[in-house]
Amino acid sequence: MPPRFLSTLPLLLALGSAAALAQEDDLFAFIPAGGRTLLETAEAAGLPEDFATAISQDTGDAAHWREAIDAAGGLGLMGAEEDTLAGYLAVRAPFPLSDKPTDGRDLAMALCQSCHIITVVITQDRTREAWLGTMQSPSHIEIKMTEPERGLLADYLVLNAGIPIDEVPKELRAGGASY
Ligand code: HEC
Repeated sequence: MPPRFLSTLPLLLALGSAAALAQEDDLFAFIPAGGRTLLETAEAAGLPEDFATAISQDTGDAAHWREAIDAAGGLGLMGAEEDTLAGYLAVRAPFPLSDKPTDGRDLAMALCQSCHIITVVITQDRTREAWLGTMQSPSHIEIKMTEPERGLLADYLVLNAGIPIDEVPKELRAGGASY
């Protein structure tokens, strides 16, 4: 008779990697949600029909979208979340709700961790102009982002970066930067 544990081994391995993934997610959970995730959450709670239609049809600046969010009752968002979503929609809308484009947090996670830890980015409290300046600096000019994406990332960081270092998980504090 073959040993019993062999049949459960693949399951254990699968569970192990799922746990590793969950742990990785948690490590970055302190970084506030971007517009894509905020929209997903609002959608799960039920989007007013006219607001959903607007996303698939309208263009407008952040002030336009902020008004639309307020008119939709705030969509259950709090603090900087409304402006984060408004900034996202200003750059990304219109788009089909079934296919949401990347937000400022997605861009930071994808593009701002290969040379230094994300902490270098997320702990800085800067103006929009200063963020755009950082992205134009020699160390950053080569990063592949469109002009509107640079604006989207800058707007996200103005609203959501400046996180105090003691709110950053220990694994992501000093020592992780490679420059
Ligand atoms: C190709 C490598 C590379 C990538 C990718 C990268 N950085 Fe950097 N970053 C550097 C280097 C090198 C330094 C230190 C030297 C300097 O300040 O230019 C730095 C420093 C910084 C600093 C602190 C110093 C300063 O300029 O104010 C910030 C903030 C920063 N990066 C933001 C970002 C953001 C935002 C992204 C993603 C859009 C990013 N970095 C992606 C190379 C990179």
